[in-house]
Amino acid sequence: MTKLIIAIDGPAGSGKSTTAKLVAKRLNYTYIDTGAMYRAVTFLALEKGIIDSPDEISSMTKNLSIELVPSESGARIFVDKRELTEEIRSLTVNKRVSDVAAIKDVRKELVIKQQAMGKAGGVVMEGRDIGSVVFPDADIKVFLTAYIDRRAERRLKEFTEKGKNFSIDEIKENLINRDKIDSSRETSPLKKTEEYTEVDTTEMTIDQQVEAIVNKARELIELRKVK
Ligand code: CDP
Repeated sequence: MTKLIIAIDGPAGSGKSTTAKLVAKRLNYTYIDTGAMYRAVTFLALEKGIIDSPDEISSMTKNLSIELVPSESGARIFVDKRELTEEIRSLTVNKRVSDVAAIKDVRKELVIKQQAMGKAGGVVMEGRDIGSVVFPDADIKVFLTAYIDRRAERRLKEFTEKGKNFSIDEIKENLINRDKIDSSRETSPLKKTEEYTEVDTTEMTIDQQVEAIVNKARELIELRKVK
């Protein structure tokens, strides 16, 4: 392995995407948003009217070709060559994604794709099970957290910037609900173990969050004489 694998896990709205994107940029690594993959499967299941059928969702997932393409704002997602970058961020998708992500066979398929995307190293991969299941030997494992009200405020701001209006209560309820499903599911639940370094971002600026992880990565890069 010549380059590091950096895993960033944590609950919804903890700042994983923003942080992971910037860390990747600073290190000249590839940013991989695994949540986008679960979201894309959810969007397609809703579109096809199979959202309540785990078996149909699993067989659909097996046959999908998913591409994450780096872009200035982070990453674009294409499924079977169709771009779904914006579509996967709707509240409708938010409301069902954790149910889809709890389907064992869906996880199995997406984990295989994620391992293929990251195995060469030089990646910052974010999700819920990266340090536990996708890359248990990741070089750096960070668990990002933040107080629930702060996470809801951040998500509200993102929606507002896109011209979408929701109440803070609706957003907060969705985050709490997803965290509950993601942490209690049978297959690879979101869980902080002692191998993770926890970074509580409630009172941190984005620059501070990024700096903390980049510094850790640079120390390791220096120590191991990798890139
Ligand atoms: O950005 P946000 O934190 O809202 O969520 P996301 O990272 O886009 O992930 C959306 C959903 O996908 C999560 O709530 C999980 O249910 C699921 N997910 C997962 O189960 N495993 C991953 N590695 C990534 C996401």
